[in-house]
Amino acid sequence: MNNIILCGFMGSGKTVVGKELAKITGRRFVDTDDLVEKKQGIPIKAIFEIYGEDYFRDLEHQVCCDTAELKNCVISTGGGAVTFERNVSALKNGGRIVFLDADFDTICERIGDSTNRPLFQDKDKAKELFDERRPKYEAAADLTVDGSMSARKTAMTISSLMK
Ligand code: S3P
Repeated sequence: MNNIILCGFMGSGKTVVGKELAKITGRRFVDTDDLVEKKQGIPIKAIFEIYGEDYFRDLEHQVCCDTAELKNCVISTGGGAVTFERNVSALKNGGRIVFLDADFDTICERIGDSTNRPLFQDKDKAKELFDERRPKYEAAADLTVDGSMSARKTAMTISSLMK
């Protein structure tokens, strides 16, 4: 029950903050997207292209259920994971959820020209998704922190608030 689970939109810093937080708190870093890729043996982008989003969501759900068995980890989740109630309850079996609340401009700066995110191909569509998801992240989270700060500062903030 002592995992720290990070949620938030694509580019909110879940991976970089998560790695920093794992170091600070002496936990192991785990990423649900990496676990999905390991299960399927191909990158997320290819899973979307070959099998479609619903197939990806089922794999992501299995991985969220598996994380309940983990102990002493910082778990970074994919940007869509906690927008599904079934994943929120599975994840909460293993720890507490922290929402990295970064503003959309910061997110766009961080994502830059990267094209490996199937659901961030078009900025206007991504903004719609961002607005639709933000209340879901807030509802899922036990704690919300400003995700627009540096990774180190965000990780230090979470670490002190989670003691
Ligand atoms: C997704 C976010 C991605 C990845 C997949 C779907 C989403 O993870 O899980 O492309 O629905 O927002 P990141 O948030 O790590 O980019």
